Amino acid sequence: MYDIKGIREDFPILSRTVYDKPLVYLDNAATTQKPRFVVNTIVSEYYSVNANVHRGVHFLSQQATDLHERSREAVRKFINARSVSEIVFTRGTTESINLVASSFVCSQMKPGDEVIVSVMEHHSNIVPWQLQAERFGIVLKVIPMNDRGELLLDEYERLFSKRTKLVSVTHVSNVLGTVNPIERIIGIAHDYGVPVLVDGAQSIPHMPVDVQALDADFYVFSGHKVYGPTGIGVLYGKEYWLEKLPPYQGGGEMIQKVTFEKTTFNELPFKFEAGTPDYIGSVALSNALGYISMLGMDQIAEYEHQLMCYATERLKEIPGMRILGEAEHKSGVISFLVGNIHPFDMGTLLDRLGIAVRTGHHCAEPLMHRLGIEGTVRASFALYTTKEEIDALVEGILRICKMFE
Ligand code: ALA
Repeated sequence: MYDIKGIREDFPILSRTVYDKPLVYLDNAATTQKPRFVVNTIVSEYYSVNANVHRGVHFLSQQATDLHERSREAVRKFINARSVSEIVFTRGTTESINLVASSFVCSQMKPGDEVIVSVMEHHSNIVPWQLQAERFGIVLKVIPMNDRGELLLDEYERLFSKRTKLVSVTHVSNVLGTVNPIERIIGIAHDYGVPVLVDGAQSIPHMPVDVQALDADFYVFSGHKVYGPTGIGVLYGKEYWLEKLPPYQGGGEMIQKVTFEKTTFNELPFKFEAGTPDYIGSVALSNALGYISMLGMDQIAEYEHQLMCYATERLKEIPGMRILGEAEHKSGVISFLVGNIHPFDMGTLLDRLGIAVRTGHHCAEPLMHRLGIEGTVRASFALYTTKEEIDALVEGILRICKMFE
């Protein structure tokens, strides 16, 4: 039984009003709301266990270290990594990708070597590679898509050459909602002996993820998009690759021995965790993962699938509705335009009705160019979204359309 009423009670913010209207929060792809359980963790950790980790002989430091490392184990278990050595805590998806881009390109690539990305990437999976391209002369190749928003796998395969060193693609598009056939994408890359980084920012909240079953070489995600706190994220990397890569940042924690002549580095995963880690955030993140595990990722996926079907059907009833992204497999988000109404106007007017959506290019400008538009309105769903909220969105859009008639 999916107890939606009980679930919503776990998220205090969902019962607030904006402009004296009940909040309808449909911007979950930007960030999710936090259950009481997660917020209480942060408060109680600061009140009762706060001390720096890995550095102290005293009781509190050891307790905080123990909780932090147990959280790493919870993340490992959640994505079924082989070992906690493969779980690096970062600030989020963006930092995880920057880490790989920085450490992989300088150590594994030569000028003229190639990285394959897709046309539907978020800027955080484009710009880090471009920064490295400027420094090291590497080349970016782009997987195209069809008009439904599905990647063209034949074209993808044609992009491989002897110079291809890495593929970096999103699992789920933050604009189109397309669930990419990531196993096939990884399988094809591996046939060419090329590792794959999967941007899991938009998949981790919506579906079970098993990095070993996927055979992903790197998988990255953000805590705040999966009901956890802001400022913490994860880089999963196969031990084989993480061992090969040089550190990303220097500082405390990531060293084994420092002299002015030479520094040697700590073992995995600490080699990549310079400075004081977010040891409160890690515990809150593990509790967020615990919360959704308790609900069941399969149940969440099934519930959200019903919501996506319902929302698509209802939105299509609206005259002038154009849904961007009609892939066979979609999750989490629906982007749309209605008639000639500018997305910014639609978003602003929906906001006055208490409905929070995102508008604009969604940090995916190359995708907007491919679609020939400036931006979209995006409604994105979470495990606590209801059909009634989708009805409110549809009624709101119809009301706004009347104003523009
Ligand atoms: N990447 C987030 C989004 O798509 C912020 O809204």
